[in-house]
Amino acid sequence: MNSMLRFKPLSRGVLLLFAASSAHVAVAGETETVEVYKSPSCGCCTLWVDHIKKSGYNVKVYDTNNVAPFRARFGVPDSIASCHTAVAGGYVIEGHVPAADIKRLLREKPKATGIAVPGMVQGSPGMEQGQGKDPYKTVLFTKDGRSTVFAAH
Ligand code: CU
Ligand code: CU
Repeated sequence: MNSMLRFKPLSRGVLLLFAASSAHVAVAGETETVEVYKSPSCGCCTLWVDHIKKSGYNVKVYDTNNVAPFRARFGVPDSIASCHTAVAGGYVIEGHVPAADIKRLLREKPKATGIAVPGMVQGSPGMEQGQGKDPYKTVLFTKDGRSTVFAAH
């Protein structure tokens, strides 16, 4: 009986440690949910969603015929707009951003609104149909329209 009592606080501590370490895994990105706002008829958006799912994220898709109000609400400047807008871990993901960039964003947590691949670049994730691959940059942006290069592809 005495030894049982002595072990109780220890097992509670182990449980807390386990809870803390599994929370840390979620922060690292793999089980993060990506919420995507896209047109129901957008083929390249669906292919990008497939790319994000394959990379291990949970994806929640919201089909809408007008993505622009969501871009405005989330603070995406028109100058870097693309075909779909997503939200993950408190950041905005605009356009055909590679999953690896999202993973790095959620790990490094820079001070910014989000990251974007402006326009629709041939060869970016979800845009592989057709010939060739154009170089492109993922930019880190803020609501007030400032952007810097986050990654070059
Ligand atoms: Cu697209
Ligand atoms: Cu899209």
